[in-house]
Amino acid sequence: MRQIVVTGGGTGIGRAIASAFAREGNGVVITGRRTDPLAAAAAAIDGDVTAIAFDAADPAQIEQALPQLPANVDVLVNTAGGNTDIGTPEPATLAELAAAWRANVDSNVLSAVLMTTALRPRLTQGGAVISFSSIAAHRAGAGSYAAAKAAIEAWNLSLAGELGTDQITANVIAPGFIDGTEFFRGRMTDERRETLIGQTATGRGGTPDDVAATVVFLASPGARHITGQVVHVNGGALSR
Ligand SMILES: NC(=O)c1ccc[n+]([C@@H]2O[C@H](COP(=O)([O-])OP(=O)(O)OC[C@H]3O[C@@H](n4cnc5c(N)ncnc54)[C@H](OP(=O)(O)O)[C@@H]3O)[C@@H](O)[C@H]2O)c1
Repeated sequence: MRQIVVTGGGTGIGRAIASAFAREGNGVVITGRRTDPLAAAAAAIDGDVTAIAFDAADPAQIEQALPQLPANVDVLVNTAGGNTDIGTPEPATLAELAAAWRANVDSNVLSAVLMTTALRPRLTQGGAVISFSSIAAHRAGAGSYAAAKAAIEAWNLSLAGELGTDQITANVIAPGFIDGTEFFRGRMTDERRETLIGQTATGRGGTPDDVAATVVFLASPGARHITGQVVHVNGGALSR
């Protein structure tokens, strides 16, 4: 039985990833800051799922959580993140702008970098680390969120080199619009949804299960020579 750690596993894409790995008979640990969604996900998913609540961008909280995390980790999925600008007022001062940028870097970059570094000694030979970028990193419009996701893609190139000696792969998934998660914090309008769907070649929004299936593939025996890559899951939206 493989041991899988999914940060941000209580909701949205992370929850679908946890479900997919649990369905395959793996042991799955889901993490996030809020206990309620984690407990609900752990109860709803069939299989061996454990929930541990802590902030993946906070070094002290990670260190405190380490004894509860698996001694050996076959797959680490750094799903935790999101656009921290959504629902927050426009920064009016440089200090507010700095705080807003730091929030996106903490949420999207440090959560992955700190978790990967903390669990590095526990990653097993032949394992996989999968982190999250976004289509936003490849388009104008999303400011510090886009910059943070671009940083993940650049960091992953070094990570792939560091982990490769242990036959551990490091890849990034860059989703396009994925419907049915907490990402948009209730602010998605019908008009915006139609625009995003209109940008796809497939004529639909992505689902958390679309992304989960890609994660499961990247962690599978068939993907052992795929590393240092950004895999786009966007229905063709990037090129339209
Ligand atoms: N949905 C989309 O259209 C889309 C598109 C491109 C990329 N993405 C990326 O896909 C990933 C998953 O997003 P989603 O759509 O599934 O949204 P979501 O439902 O909001 O999931 C994000 C999860 O991350 C957790 N999280 C955030 N900050 C954290 C932290 N500091 N420590 C621990 N957990 C943290 C959240 O739980 P807590 O709040 O309880 O901590 C939540 O469960 C994100 O990295 C996002 O940027 C999403």
